[in-house]
Amino acid sequence: MKGIVLAGGTGSRLFPLTKITNKHLLPIYDKPMIYYPIQTLVDAGVESIMVVTGGRNSGDFLRLLANGKNFGLKHIDYTYQEGEGGIADALALAEHFADGQKICVVLGDNIIEQSIRGAADAFRKQPKGARILLKEVTDAERFGVAELNGDRIAGIEEKPAHPKSNLAVTGIYMYDETVFDKVRTLVPSGRGELEITDVNNAYIREGSMTFSFLDGWWTDAGTFDSLLRAANLVAQTRRDRLE
Ligand code: G1P
Repeated sequence: MKGIVLAGGTGSRLFPLTKITNKHLLPIYDKPMIYYPIQTLVDAGVESIMVVTGGRNSGDFLRLLANGKNFGLKHIDYTYQEGEGGIADALALAEHFADGQKICVVLGDNIIEQSIRGAADAFRKQPKGARILLKEVTDAERFGVAELNGDRIAGIEEKPAHPKSNLAVTGIYMYDETVFDKVRTLVPSGRGELEITDVNNAYIREGSMTFSFLDGWWTDAGTFDSLLRAANLVAQTRRDRLE
């Protein structure tokens, strides 16, 4: 399975922090944000990784990450997203890289405490379809929200005003090679973006979506509050592990 980190976007919710740099280069405690999703993939046993970036600071990713030696990688691929098309638009740029293999996509601002190796191995054995990772939250209206029907997902709503559950769809997605055909059928949402939730609902409609529950804490880092929370969670976990 190959890995894709989506690290584009304007980071407008973090302005002016993102006025002169990309959100994913901002610090989370002692490391740049982008280090965490790359480590997530490496810990899941993924050795071939592409970073999708964009904007004026895209060259900084190459200077920061180079060939990924710090992560034990031999090589990192990079591609450039022009404009602001959303998560699924960024993902479409990785079709050539995926080359027919399964992929694990991680949003560049999603930070987790524990390994997703178990879910990744389950997806490696899954014959087809997709797998997402769910997490119980108290502020579901900020996220894609999954509605369960027994042991299946009935549907996902993107940032619903009245969430049908407290299960957020985290920004870690595993897809088979049909994902790129599904992206091609999408139309822009109300916020003018190709939504990853629409991709996931396409898998749900064809009955090939599975899920795992994410162990440990999870946060995004795209707002001032979540950026601070991410740093505090990383710092606390680091201290706990040293004790
Ligand atoms: C995106 C997805 C959302 C998901 C979230 C996880 O939201 O659209 O479904 O729950 O990432 O971080 P965004 O943060 O881009 O608004």
